[in-house]
Amino acid sequence: MQALDLYATIEEYLDFEDEVHHLYKTIGHTVLSKEPKTLIDIGCGQGEFCHIMELNGIKSFGVDLSAKQIEIAVSKGTDAKCIDIKDIKETYDCATATFDVINYIPQNTIKEFLESCYQVVNKEGYFIFDINSLYGFENVAQGTLNIDLKDKFIAIDANFKENILYTDITLFTQEDKEKSFKKDSGTIEQFCYKKDELSSLLQTIGFEVENIINFNLHTDEEFDKYIFVCKKG
Ligand SMILES: C[S@@+](CC[C@H](N)C(=O)[O-])C[C@H]1O[C@@H](n2cnc3c(N)ncnc32)[C@H](O)[C@@H]1O
Repeated sequence: MQALDLYATIEEYLDFEDEVHHLYKTIGHTVLSKEPKTLIDIGCGQGEFCHIMELNGIKSFGVDLSAKQIEIAVSKGTDAKCIDIKDIKETYDCATATFDVINYIPQNTIKEFLESCYQVVNKEGYFIFDINSLYGFENVAQGTLNIDLKDKFIAIDANFKENILYTDITLFTQEDKEKSFKKDSGTIEQFCYKKDELSSLLQTIGFEVENIINFNLHTDEEFDKYIFVCKKG
């Protein structure tokens, strides 16, 4: 199984729901204040943010590179597709990328990826997303977690080295009581971007960085996230 699909399979067991909804609340209010009629959620995962935006009257469409995530999102009623953002031809009043998506993009393709985000936003439209701070990577994201369920065992081990967070995921699944456990494993890489570097890059591409909101997701100590509010001028 590909690492992104493996993450999709275990996401429901990670118990991030309350924190993610806290993030959605801030990003959602920011989106609503811009009064878009249409929205594309890039890296939409299982479609929850699209669903919330739809409930607020915004026509929302999700894209994700994980076929498994899209399968789940569509089964929950989200309008979503497994397609690379660079292949999207339509444009939207607002683009979003919530809960770490931008950190999933490697350094060697980040400019191209952000250019594709720029292309899908209408003039005067917005691109709103979050990234993890260095503090978040160093002090919150690292560590191990084991989840022991009746028919599953999930082991997660995350290490931050030279600006990259490597999250090793191992999943043992027993499909049938009589059968032995099947093992799947993979590593997700997340790349740390500095606020100033990313701002310069966004400006080079043509976005105006209107605001960067300091955000506490998993901790009350230092900010573990930043929310970028960018306008296509
Ligand atoms: C931590 S999840 C967040 C999902 C969702 N936005 C949420 O709020 O729950 C990161 C998502 O980014 C997706 N992703 C990673 N790289 C991507 C890319 N280049 N294009 C689109 N989606 C991507 C993954 O498949 C995954 O669903």
